[in-house]
Formats: sequence, structure tokens, C-alpha cells
Amino acid sequence: MSNRTLAIIKPDGVRKNLIGQIITKITDAGFKIKAIKMLKLTKDSAGGFYEVHKERAFFNDLIEYMTSGPCVPIALEKENAVADFRKLIGATDPLQAEEGTIRKLYAANKAENVIHGSDSDENAAIEIAHFFSRKELLENFGL
Ligand code: RTP
Ligand code: MG
Repeated sequence: MSNRTLAIIKPDGVRKNLIGQIITKITDAGFKIKAIKMLKLTKDSAGGFYEVHKERAFFNDLIEYMTSGPCVPIALEKENAVADFRKLIGATDPLQAEEGTIRKLYAANKAENVIHGSDSDENAAIEIAHFFSRKELLENFGL
């Protein structure tokens, strides 16, 4: 069972001024914020992050979207973090997301869906390292 996951409040979430409301949902669900920052991804960095989707028809739109403004990556800790966080955010498509989930509440559509969550323990570790260096995790966040 994992205890860490990576969330990203995506650029539409930041643009809609939802950072506070989304973080409240996350902490109310029992997740602890271990590291956080706000930054604008480059195309290279976004492409690397979503490399698994590079052959998909939506890849270019996904990179445009993810680089359209600042986003907020957050390293989170909780027992069973990966699965519990995916449950909290809901299905990729808000039309299919359960009531009360972050995507059901705030996402516009399947492409612009306000939040990311890691899909495995292995990817959680890779994704946290994508945004936070070992030095930074140690010196700034005590991890
Ligand atoms: P994420 O990785 O961002 O947490 O989302 P996810 O696992 O629920 O969905 P995934 O299949 O990994 O897709 C990554 C992101 O690509 C965008 N997308 N657009 N236009 C489309 O059909 C489409 N499908 C996916 C979404 O932003 C999705 O979250
Ligand atoms: Mg995914």
C-alpha cells in the first residue's frame, strides 16, 4: 500500500481561482500536503510528464492545455494515497465522475478536468521527482 501521490491543480483550475477550494477538499479527505509549488510547465516538461500518451490523438491538445498557464503540483501523503486520491478526483470525464468528486464539481470536460492524480505507486514516485528535486525535498520540505 502506498502512502504518497502527486496531485496537480491543472491550469484551468488555477485560472478559475479554485486553488483554495480544491486544496480544502484534499485536506478534508485526510491528505497531508508534504510539498507544493506553482509553476508554468514548458512543452518539453509537460511532454515528458505525459510521455505515456504521446501516440494518442489528444496528445498535442493535452500539451497545449498543460502549458497554457501556471499549475500547482502537490506531493500528498495518506495511507493508500494513490487509490484514495483517484477516488477523490473522480473519473477523467466529469460526466462519468461520481457526485462530490473534484472533477464532478469543477471540471469542464474530459480534456480540461482541473486535476491530476498519479495512477500507481511507481508513477507517484516518478511524478513527485518530476517536480521536486531530492535536494529540494530534503531542504525545503523535510522529506
Ligand atoms: P491524469 O493523468 O491527468 O490524472 O488523468 P487521467 O489518469 O484521469 O486520464 P489519462 O487517460 O491519463 O489522460 C490524461 C489527461 O489527458 C487529457 N485527456 N484528454 N480529449 C480527450 O479525449 C482526452 N482524454 C484525456 C485529460 O486532461 C486527462 O486527464
Ligand atoms: Mg493518467
